[in-house]
Amino acid sequence: MSKEIEDHRLLNPSCNEPFSSVLERHVSRRSIMRGGAGLAAMGLLSGFGLAGCSDSDGDDDVDRDNDTAPEKTPLALAFESIAGSRTDAIVVPEGYTAQVLVPWGTPLNASARDWRSDLRMTPEQQAASLGMHHDGMHNFALSESSASRDFLLALNNEYIDQDALWAPQGGPTNADEGNRPADEVRTEVNAHGVTVVRVQKGDDGSWRHVADSPYNRRFTTATPMTLAGPVAGTDYVITAYSRDGTQTRGTNNNCANGYTPWGTYLTCEENWPSVFIKNTGREADDDRLGIETGRGRYGWETAAGSADEVDGEFARFDATPRGASAADDYRNEPRTYGYIVEIDPYTQARAVKRTHLGRFRHEGCWPGKLIEGEPVVFYSGHDSRNEYIYKFVSRELWDPADASRIGSDYDRLAIGDKYLDEGTLYAARFDADGTGEWLPLTPEATTQDGRRLSQALQLADDDLAGVIIHTADAADLMGATPMDRPEWGTVDPVSGEVYMTLTNNSDRTPEGTQATFTSGDDIDALGVGYATAPTNAANPRANNESGQIIRWREPTPAETTFEWEVFVFGAAASATDNFSGLTELNQFASPDGLWYDDRGDGRGILWIETDNSGNDVAEYTNDQVLAVVPGAVSLADGDRAVIDSADQQYLKRFAVGPNGCEVTGIFATPDKTSLFINIQHPGNWPANGDELTQDATRQTSGQVRPRASTVVIQKEDGGEIGL
Ligand code: FEO
Ligand code: CA
Ligand code: CA
Ligand code: CA
Repeated sequence: MSKEIEDHRLLNPSCNEPFSSVLERHVSRRSIMRGGAGLAAMGLLSGFGLAGCSDSDGDDDVDRDNDTAPEKTPLALAFESIAGSRTDAIVVPEGYTAQVLVPWGTPLNASARDWRSDLRMTPEQQAASLGMHHDGMHNFALSESSASRDFLLALNNEYIDQDALWAPQGGPTNADEGNRPADEVRTEVNAHGVTVVRVQKGDDGSWRHVADSPYNRRFTTATPMTLAGPVAGTDYVITAYSRDGTQTRGTNNNCANGYTPWGTYLTCEENWPSVFIKNTGREADDDRLGIETGRGRYGWETAAGSADEVDGEFARFDATPRGASAADDYRNEPRTYGYIVEIDPYTQARAVKRTHLGRFRHEGCWPGKLIEGEPVVFYSGHDSRNEYIYKFVSRELWDPADASRIGSDYDRLAIGDKYLDEGTLYAARFDADGTGEWLPLTPEATTQDGRRLSQALQLADDDLAGVIIHTADAADLMGATPMDRPEWGTVDPVSGEVYMTLTNNSDRTPEGTQATFTSGDDIDALGVGYATAPTNAANPRANNESGQIIRWREPTPAETTFEWEVFVFGAAASATDNFSGLTELNQFASPDGLWYDDRGDGRGILWIETDNSGNDVAEYTNDQVLAVVPGAVSLADGDRAVIDSADQQYLKRFAVGPNGCEVTGIFATPDKTSLFINIQHPGNWPANGDELTQDATRQTSGQVRPRASTVVIQKEDGGEIGL
């Protein structure tokens, strides 16, 4: 997500203590805690502190004692950290190649015309081609033996670059005022969503997509989808399209992703509120999540009433109540968005919105450590300033018989029904002593001020659907900790430790300021809190422009307590707030994408991607990919983060993207010889505007029609990436 679609409004009106103040007290007390028996038992004394979750005796039991954990040798990254770069090209270490694969506009089936840089996009062409602005992605094997050279790539198309989309006609029509033409709206709607495309590695070692594969498929902001979980079938989601509240159309602003242990893709709806407007009849959740008034982000609602409009396809973006009841208009359309969406990449089944995982601006969704006979858990974050981190714990216990299987004669979405539709959603509170608690978001939960949560939200006693619709309000009332914009998470699959990026937070001032909200009685009833979070000694940036990565560990993934610490602070090397001691060769800011690479007997490599702009790091380099071996770094006395000035050799810059882009989406093939990343919103790249596959490191000369794209990084000798 670039700053272009970032929402700068502060939408959390709660009085909850911001993470900044918690962090200050946490750091100041760390030296008191260090050396305590309780801390040792939780593993904080170990650099890879896995005792709370690790399993040293080979079974799936939780080993709560740290003294039996075997010593393991951390991996060593075998590439030289590269310098920063500000060019229209990808940069990778010596001995590596980078290749463009499936850029925006790649034809997926025979109905699509071949891509040309002067191609005029139409609704039909875009629906049969790769969407725009690639983000989260995952790989789905077609057979065990070919998993590293032939698989289904599921990837998010988060949002659009209207200038690039409409370049042949000189830009969009009526972008800012007046009615948008119906076919331009349909085209833009079809450029969003998710793409599933089969990709293969050829004998020459290069990758290509399989044109016209029956697996190739698009999900757009118009594709019919099923609602499941507590909100499905309730009055909250009755619309003129679905009078029983079980269906909706489309998914939007699909940012990061997840996947399930049973072989499905999870796509996550982030900055969707801005495609909807609601001018009157606004309710608390409309304000809390930022549904627009006046004109939506792309003015899609202005095409309503077009002569060929089908079934309210444009009217649905205006949620202003106009009919006699909810079944006669689209007042509830925004309540069918804001969810985790489950997709079976192997079949043509409808996607399912899993409402029990909460409704907000979901960045992504990551499965926790999987343990037979324990609940399945998923972590997620709400990417807005001073918003929260969440965890969903399934009611159903994990049965390995449900593990991922390849093929179409296997009902993966029925398994999703079992694990994702019933359970408990929690929000995280980070306490000053280095512990934390998961706070249940259930009607019967007790709020900070001793009320029943349903009552505090002004809901009926058993209204779980209402709690989900108002997820962020529920988290406010329970006392969750406002964070510096949670982005990606990732889980060490052996230890169960969770890492999450907190990308930045401009709503922070030295003393904090009080918010005053005037719209919405319900919001006023919940109290008025910070408009900006106060700074403090441990997080002293009045404008936290560089962000940090936190890490936590739980006794088991299903439990409601955890221990946490800061893993690394982003900063410019020259900055006075460079708390992790970064150097020119690994300075970064605004961490966003994360991926835990499980090589090395479980001690692994943590890959970090950035989405940065407008600061000293951006003056030095474009957005980048870094790697660090968590097993090689530990927390020392007096340090504010696990990575400090003594650890610089373990955090290395691996790749740099072209001008204007953010680097996002990441995984490697199972054999770890091909690393897949996405380049989103490049300014003038890839170099050859007409080619679908090309050298990603080639510099553009002149001006091209830019295209977001997947990039595959490989070693020239075919060896494992990074080692
Ligand atoms: Fe789409 Fe929070 O990045
Ligand atoms: Ca992101
Ligand atoms: Ca971001
Ligand atoms: Ca350290």
